[in-house]
Amino acid sequence: MKIGLFDSGIGGVSVLKKLTYLNGAHYIYIADTERAPYGIKTPETLETFVFQFIDFFERKNVEEIFAACNTTDSIILERGIKFDIKYHSIVRAGVNASKSKNVGVIGTNITIKNETYKKQLELLGKNVQQKAAQLFVSLVEEGIFYGRMVEAIANFYLNSFRKTNIDELILGCTHFPFLKGIISRVLPRVKIIDPAEELSKEIPVNKTKKPFVEFYVTGDVKEFEKKLKRINFRVPHVIHKLETRKLKVITVEKVNNIDWNVRSG
Ligand code: DGL
Repeated sequence: MKIGLFDSGIGGVSVLKKLTYLNGAHYIYIADTERAPYGIKTPETLETFVFQFIDFFERKNVEEIFAACNTTDSIILERGIKFDIKYHSIVRAGVNASKSKNVGVIGTNITIKNETYKKQLELLGKNVQQKAAQLFVSLVEEGIFYGRMVEAIANFYLNSFRKTNIDELILGCTHFPFLKGIISRVLPRVKIIDPAEELSKEIPVNKTKKPFVEFYVTGDVKEFEKKLKRINFRVPHVIHKLETRKLKVITVEKVNNIDWNVRSG
């Protein structure tokens, strides 16, 4: 089976790690480091990126796509973007993983502005408190996972949750699980939800073959290699350079106001 994933950088590897542990498929992962971060881009720009990746995956005969980026997933859901390859949404998985009444959500500027998690959780009768934590993305890309600066930034973003009685905090960005340690130190009584846990239940367990990953990196390949080493990524892989100008721009018919059901897998 050929599985496609894409993200602005190293964040989506938190999803990839879970999938490769469960299924020895052939994975194609696009790390769009040249155009990162995504959380501060316009929805129109992100939509163009999504169409480019879908087109790329179609040319590579990818059979299923697992969302490795909440920001573009939020765009796909909000704008009702449809395509032929089977798509597994990380936001839906995160919503399904939530079990408590009072829920906190952190994500990139776009994910929080779109209120994609908030709206779906509120439909389930939950109280939702959300906060954008965009700087966390840069910390993870830089490999800064602990220390005074991370603590200060984590306190800055998470302090407001101390005053509201949230029971769970959804990490609505795939970069954030790399900072789980510090996040749970700031909010020790809160259950931290990594939506990738729930998402990985959507892949069948098949350990008969070893997984293999083809990375396609739009930015500096050597830098990306260093980042993979830093997070101890040990799955057999190869890294290719992907020129953004080779990502063909295509026009796709859009269906607006999609009525997606959060409980349907
Ligand atoms: N890791 C992505 C997400 O889950 C994007 C982060 C960014 O580039 O801003 O939202």
